[in-house]
Amino acid sequence: MGKPRIMDKLKITGGKELNGEVIISGAKNAALPILAGSILSSAPVTLNNIPQLNDVATMLTLLQSMGAEVIFDEKMDLRLNAKEIEKYFAPYDLVKTMRASILVLGPLLSRFGRAEVSLPGGCAIGARPVNLHVKGLRAMGAKISIKNGYIYATAKKLQGTNYRFDEVSVTGTENIMMAAVLAKGKTVITNAAMEPEVKDLAQFLKSMGANIEGEGTSQIVVDGVDRLRETNYRIMPDRIESGTYLIAAAITGGKILLKKTAPQYLKTVISKLQLSGANIKCGDDWISLDMHNKKLKAVDFETSPYPGFPTDMQAQFCALNSISSGSARMKETIFENRFQHVIELHRMGADIEIKGNIATSKGVRRLTAAPVMATDLRASAGLIIAALAAHGDTIIDRIYHIDRGYERIEEKLQQLGAHISRETS
Ligand code: EPZ
Repeated sequence: MGKPRIMDKLKITGGKELNGEVIISGAKNAALPILAGSILSSAPVTLNNIPQLNDVATMLTLLQSMGAEVIFDEKMDLRLNAKEIEKYFAPYDLVKTMRASILVLGPLLSRFGRAEVSLPGGCAIGARPVNLHVKGLRAMGAKISIKNGYIYATAKKLQGTNYRFDEVSVTGTENIMMAAVLAKGKTVITNAAMEPEVKDLAQFLKSMGANIEGEGTSQIVVDGVDRLRETNYRIMPDRIESGTYLIAAAITGGKILLKKTAPQYLKTVISKLQLSGANIKCGDDWISLDMHNKKLKAVDFETSPYPGFPTDMQAQFCALNSISSGSARMKETIFENRFQHVIELHRMGADIEIKGNIATSKGVRRLTAAPVMATDLRASAGLIIAALAAHGDTIIDRIYHIDRGYERIEEKLQQLGAHISRETS
């Protein structure tokens, strides 16, 4: 984790089969809300399996700027102490680099009754509004005004309420659930996000004494408590990193074993990969994939909230379909602008047509290397996957996007036999 190096590029020589084992890191989208949730407790918190990612570094910088103590021990376990937090401010220059900073809003309001958090603003994949977060906090009695790009929120004491999300929102559900932990009375959240990362956050909060039921279903019930105790908690494995490596092996016709992963959270991706011709076996914490030299078949999919096909796997599967035989219909229902990677895949020879929120691919025999540009985190993963199978040397620009969400990606891919290197200019 370090300062994102804006000019870094990745160079990938395609055509090498990926074979071998890879250890999956802790989930970025569980670590970020759990780090924000540590604000709720004045007792020390120890977290294991924290992924070493730029987004995690940004969240830790934000917590430290508020006064939290942050120490990595020799085992890379993270010791956090939010006892001394005395600032409730999340500045634009931090929030604009990592939208998930909005997750400090609920915990700050719940424990301290005040918060001043920059609006995250949009990103490449969409406008990314936070109106449903604000609406829920207002329903709990928070006084919220939005001006000059900031959310100014105060609350004498948040009150439990019944809140139904107009649209399923992962971080929206997480923010309201965290706000409810120290609120007065009961909060019932309906149309809640059921993502495993929401469940992991709830289990972290319960390990500190929070009173939560129903996590992982569309109805979450929280009974407010007065304070939380210390905890030692292990972050769940990253299901999107897992899916990304499975597809990287599949597109190169290889054989891979993922370790320290959680197959139960990847069911839709695994079943789609089996339809594409991959032979997949699963154990408690491992997944193996073997293409057995079978030809890839194109597979239709439609993204939807969990347990549906994850939008965060759309770009990766799109790359796979681009060289799979036949045609595939790929529908993106979550974000309004999440096909940016397709424009770059066209440069590599992909035959994909976009009409509204549907991309239709016609498999080509082979992609060819080209200079391409990463536009967002998962689009970058899609381009890396395409480059691994393309003929020639692909140069991917703006790879600071990839460093936000994939721990040591070149190293893990090199260990699997990929010809990949980082060029720092
Ligand atoms: C989370 O983003 C993830 N980020 C995203 O992963 C993921 O793509 C997304 O959930 C969907 O699964 C983290 O968990 C840190 P949403 P989030 O609120 O919570 C609309 C990655 O690559 N909406 O579930 O921001 C929104 O515009 C990232 O790791 C509102 O209209 O997504 C979208 O269309 C990318 N108003 C839909 O809901 C709101 O107040 C779902 O968004 C909130 C959301």
